[in-house]
This record gives sequence, structure tokens and C-alpha cells, in this order.
Amino acid sequence: MFEHLEDKEPDKLLGLIKLYANDTRSEKIDLGVGVYRTAEGKTPVFSAIKKAERFLLENQESKSYLGPEGDAGFAEALLPIVFGADQEIHEKTLRLQTPGGTGAVRMAAALVARAGVTRIHLGLPSWPNHAQIFDDIGLSVNGFVHADPASGQADFAALLQTIEDASPGDAVILHACCHNPTGIDYTTKRWEEIASALLENGVLPIVDFAYQGLGSGLEDDAQGVRILAARMPELLVAYSCDKNFGLYRDRVGALFAVVQAEGSRAKCLSNLNELARACWSMPPDHGAAAARIVLEDEQLRREWKEELEAMRERLQRMRYLLSKADEQVPNIGLGALANGHGMFAMLELSSAQILSLRDDHAVYIAPSGRISLAGLTEQNIYRLVQSLSEVCPHT
Ligand code: LMR
Repeated sequence: MFEHLEDKEPDKLLGLIKLYANDTRSEKIDLGVGVYRTAEGKTPVFSAIKKAERFLLENQESKSYLGPEGDAGFAEALLPIVFGADQEIHEKTLRLQTPGGTGAVRMAAALVARAGVTRIHLGLPSWPNHAQIFDDIGLSVNGFVHADPASGQADFAALLQTIEDASPGDAVILHACCHNPTGIDYTTKRWEEIASALLENGVLPIVDFAYQGLGSGLEDDAQGVRILAARMPELLVAYSCDKNFGLYRDRVGALFAVVQAEGSRAKCLSNLNELARACWSMPPDHGAAAARIVLEDEQLRREWKEELEAMRERLQRMRYLLSKADEQVPNIGLGALANGHGMFAMLELSSAQILSLRDDHAVYIAPSGRISLAGLTEQNIYRLVQSLSEVCPHT
């Protein structure tokens, strides 16, 4: 039977983890997978999470099943972080704990497919797993240009045109903040315009919210989601705690469904529960329980916010420093970095240049040309610029 399967390429982005780990060159620089690193190159457990885990170890009395919705307290504690203090929105928002943001995107796609959506619009480039998930669910994917990396600006006209040309009942996936891979986000004013266009054309938004707190701060990063939540009849938000709680391998995420029509809510939730049951039955608990403990405790919540803010500031500083190297290595988009937010940026590099950076300079960059600024430090940034200028000779 299995001889009928087609060979599949291993995931190129995740493949970098192993390649980097196996590289014995001490000067190696990892700008590959989106994992936060300190100035010492470490990805430590947040101290607020460590304390919550200790509390959990001492106080958890059972590991009995929780059901397909997972830890209800976890998703509830996230509501004010994601949607602000508006109780009315909280009451209209269904929530499902998911294995990471990936699980949330998958549930969102499966739910809209059940609701009759057949086509989803996706700004490109995007996180490669988006198209893969939608394709696997059976949605047809229509790509449009998200941004021009050279200018560092979003191609807003392309998005509006796509929404205008969409059929009512289509969906669109948008990145809430820290666009992966370009780092180019919409302004608050643009989000208002996006909401109007979506409403006018009957297009359902799914928002991928994987980097809250790492762009302009916890509150500012949520502006787009909050604008859509206030104005759209229906909105899905796929949330990840991988980066902003540092819970990567614990797989912690949530899907939020803001449903204005009371009559649709029970149907929506029962479908989500059934889809979750068919996929993973119940999400893993440990990381979500730790995040809940952090969010419910004032002191731990404060500590978490401070740690997150320090990460954000470090990323911003690395972005700034690298953008300053534009004159040394022109024409690959370094100057435009200053307009971006969060962990990622795209450099205009050919496949041969990306390969040479890896093989000849021990610099690891995603095959798309995306760099994770988290891999930069005040020490290695000079060597990166050196390597870039050797690989991209100034003509
Ligand atoms: C990334 O884009 O590098 C991260 O979100 C990790 C992943 O799952 O791809």
C-alpha cells in the first residue's frame, strides 16, 4: 500500500534546527527558526513560568482528563490580554485550547471548511505552514502580495483588491502583528479600513496571533484583533504562546471565535469540540496550566510582562543595528528593516547566496531569505554584516 505514497521533502525550515546543531564551527550564527534567544544565545524558560511550574508540581492533585476544550481557565485568562477589557466581547468569544498556534490555525481552517468556506486568501510570503494546512484541509488558496520587502511597506492596495475581488463567504488569513516572515504590519488606521472592506464584501477574517508583545508591546500588538472583534460579525483568532511565554515544545495555543450572533455560538462550539476530539482528543495540559497560573497571579503576571518587554527591546535593538548596515551591504533590504516589527525580516538573497552563507560563513538563514533577528547579538552582528558583504559583493 505505502508504495503508492509520494516522497515528501522534509520541512526546510525545521530542517535547519538539525543542520545548525550538527555544525561544529564555534562562530556559527543561527538566524533560522523563530525561537527567541538572549544576548548569550540562550532560550531560557521564563522565570515567571518556572515559578508557575514549581507551583503546579506542588499543588496539582490530578492529571485526569479535562475534555476537548482543555484548560478553560487558561483561555479565559488570555481574554483580556488578547481582546482588552471589553466584557461584551469576552461574552461573545468562544475558546478552545489547542496544541500550539499550529493547532489553532488547523482548527480554524477545519471549522470554516465545515461552515462552507472553500477558498482562503493568503498574503505572500507567509509562514509556509499556512498554505500547507489549508491545502491539507481542502481549501483552495489564493495568494496575493503582502508587502514589498525592498521598501518595507505593506502592499495595502493588493489586500484591498483581493478582498474586493473575493466572493462573499471566502476567508482571509491575516497576521495580527510581527508578520512572519516580512515583519511588515498594518497600522491601526489600515486595520479599520480592512474591517470595512471585509464587512462590505462578506469575507471572514482568520487572524494568526503568534507574537503578541514582541512588536510594539502587548497592547499595541492587539489593536488589529480588537478592531476586527468590535466590528466583524464573526472572527477567528489563532493564538500561540510559543514565543511570548517561551513554551515552544509544550505546545500551547488557543483558538478564539468571536461570534456576534447568539444563535450560532453553541453550534460553533460543538463543532470545534468535535473537530478537536477527532484530531487530538484533548490538548496537552502542562504548559497551558503554567501560563494560566502566571496570568492569574498579579506578581507573576507583572514578572512575565517585564521579561517579555526585555525580549521585545532586544529584538528592536538588533533590528535597528542591522538596518544601519545598509550602506555596507546595499540592495538586500537592510535599510527597510527599520520599518518592521518583531522577530523576522526578509533579505533579498538568492538561493546560492543563502547556501554560501551557510556553507562558507556558518550563517543559517531560512531558504526563503527570512532572518530571525533573535539570533543576533552585539558581538556577532559585525561578523554577519562581514559575511553578507562577502556573499553580496557591492557592484
Ligand atoms: C517559525 O516560523 O520559525 C516558527 O513559527 C516555528 C515554526 O513552527 O515554523
